[in-house]
Amino acid sequence: MLSKLTLFFILVAPTKTSNTADLGHKGALKNSDPQLYQSEGCYEAKSMQDAGVNLGYLGNFAISECAELALKRGFSEFGLFQGGLCKGGSNLQGMVSETSVTCRNGVGGEDSVELYSLKLSAIACPIESSDKASKSCQTQRQHETAKTREDYELSKGDDYLKIPRINKNTAEVFLMLKKDPLDNHWISLYNQTIYKNFGLFFLLNNLTGGKDIDYNKVYKFFVDRQRHQHFVRPEDQKFFRFAFQDTSNPFKDVSDLSLWRDDDIFTDQRLAGMNPMAIQRVSSPGKRGGVSWKKLCGKLNPRFDWQGAIQDVLGKSISVNRAIRGGYIFVVHYPLYDGLNTVKDPLGELMEANSPIAIFASKPSHQKLPNRLKPVAIQINSSPDSPVYTPENSQLWQMAKHVLQVADFAQTQIVEHLYKIHLYMEPICVCMHRRLSKLHPLHQLLKHHCRGLLGTNALGYPFLMAPGNGSIEKLMSVGLQGALTMMKRAYKDLSWEETDFLANIEKRGLGDKKKLPYFPYRDDGELIYHELSDMVKEFVGKYYRSCREVRKDKELQDFAYDVSVKSGKVKDFPTKITSKLSLTRHLVRIMWMTSAQHSAINYPVDHYGALTFNSPTKLYKDEVAGAGHYGFSNLPRMFTSMTQSALAMTLAAMRYDSLLDFVPKFPDEEGKFVLQKYQGRLHGKVTPIITQRNKQRFKEGHLPYPYLLPAWIANSIHT
Ligand SMILES: [Fe+2]
Repeated sequence: MLSKLTLFFILVAPTKTSNTADLGHKGALKNSDPQLYQSEGCYEAKSMQDAGVNLGYLGNFAISECAELALKRGFSEFGLFQGGLCKGGSNLQGMVSETSVTCRNGVGGEDSVELYSLKLSAIACPIESSDKASKSCQTQRQHETAKTREDYELSKGDDYLKIPRINKNTAEVFLMLKKDPLDNHWISLYNQTIYKNFGLFFLLNNLTGGKDIDYNKVYKFFVDRQRHQHFVRPEDQKFFRFAFQDTSNPFKDVSDLSLWRDDDIFTDQRLAGMNPMAIQRVSSPGKRGGVSWKKLCGKLNPRFDWQGAIQDVLGKSISVNRAIRGGYIFVVHYPLYDGLNTVKDPLGELMEANSPIAIFASKPSHQKLPNRLKPVAIQINSSPDSPVYTPENSQLWQMAKHVLQVADFAQTQIVEHLYKIHLYMEPICVCMHRRLSKLHPLHQLLKHHCRGLLGTNALGYPFLMAPGNGSIEKLMSVGLQGALTMMKRAYKDLSWEETDFLANIEKRGLGDKKKLPYFPYRDDGELIYHELSDMVKEFVGKYYRSCREVRKDKELQDFAYDVSVKSGKVKDFPTKITSKLSLTRHLVRIMWMTSAQHSAINYPVDHYGALTFNSPTKLYKDEVAGAGHYGFSNLPRMFTSMTQSALAMTLAAMRYDSLLDFVPKFPDEEGKFVLQKYQGRLHGKVTPIITQRNKQRFKEGHLPYPYLLPAWIANSIHT
């Protein structure tokens, strides 16, 4: 049924005359090309006196001749008056308001003008930076980006999240992406994925009658049905795959009860699990990177024997200060989680939302093997009166590890994943569409890295963040309010500089490979980051011969200005890009964030974050056993476990593409040559290195890390 608004527009839209080029100008056209232009209607000419550029009075073939002249002069519109007077311009339609019925034969009338727009496909413009485009191609590009900006507009961002979002609701984004050939199929599949896991939740609930079952059964129920024929069409099943099922790489299955309790597995998850972003080196005065011991001491319990606990791992001969000076001590803590309140949980009384501090030490081997990170102690909360537990404390040590996993789950999913990747990259992708024409080589590259982001955020965000019944409120002990507070706190330190992978590793003090020889996220990430850097440097070199050309590329400069201050408000993003080197650096960061960084943070939730006993999202008080005891009765019930698995599968079961798989279809040979070379390197050189590393990691008893294998890195943020 037509709405009143639709009817209004149909009724008041300008009346197109029938005197269009194709219909009314009988026999008058020379070289008539209906692909070249289209009539925009007949209007009163009184406001057109000073508009446009006069291109002369044309004869019998006025429409096509005027079109050709306008094209040659680089205009996007032309108009015909008084039977043949031709004017060209780029905003003629903006100058008229009153429609007229006095145009004749497509060439206007005494007091009226027939307006035409030149079609964007009129000229075959090449893929190139905007400074090199011909005048007519520049006009075409300007026309195209102006039109795109009507769809891609950014809001200011709300009080809590601050980050600007696309100014459309969920349905509008869905409909917009349905029309985009790049997003069309993906958005349908993603929508189905959300509802599939929602449906699986209710199905399992019905099958079990709501009674508690083994956590492993919940997890396996969801995993087994992700590509099941009842839920996914055969042709779409290839998009649902898990890295842990890749038989060419070893994998340690922590759903095995003997593994998830293991302290080494717990420790390895700081370096190769769901959240490799929390660990930092503890540093001594004057040392760059990491957290200073002095600062940490303000939060640590002074009554606990930290020296003794460190010596239990490293040996009696080493003091705390010497261990710190030597770079042997590491910490995991969650300042954004400090002091948050728990929500009221309908299934029982929750433990308070503790913000733990865990100390680890790099233990040298006596058999000339590499050092291995070992847990020293976990302080349950960030206040100095909080209890501290060590591996000697049996049940309470397990509780301390779970307390850490609860905070870690919240930190990684709310801050590292949702806020610092999904929401943070949205304005950058929106500005890419707003400012870079489809004819710009960077648009052709970045569109693949931006695919799905707006759709995921528009469709997934309400499921996560709905007040009362969103996944975050149901899953996490700090609920929606706690999540919003964490993001608000995270905004204070949010900077584009943080997206430099290598600088981030250095800032956290994690570069010493002797003290920290096992850190798969760092080591595999370095390989990928260097390949991306070399590739982008060559790609940029193909399209810009000098830094001057970079500075002259108006679309690129408009993009930088839009991202940094005009509408994206991305702190520390440059307002101007002044050199090839600078362009390379920022482009690499965009590609890194949307592909490898998102893959490293998003996909490990498919295993480590989906298993309730490995990574619970909340903990309960056990009134029967009482304080001092800890066991399964402190863990979440089946309702929460199912919500956890459903969320994990929605986030991490679908990979729609893999890194650089779009290269064969890249529309320009120059860029394609470079991209193909690096696609070959990723599969021919990087993959064998990481595969070999994983075999070695497995052999040494560590968790292998498939998440940064090129075949398992998605191009974009699309789940
Ligand atoms: Fe994601």
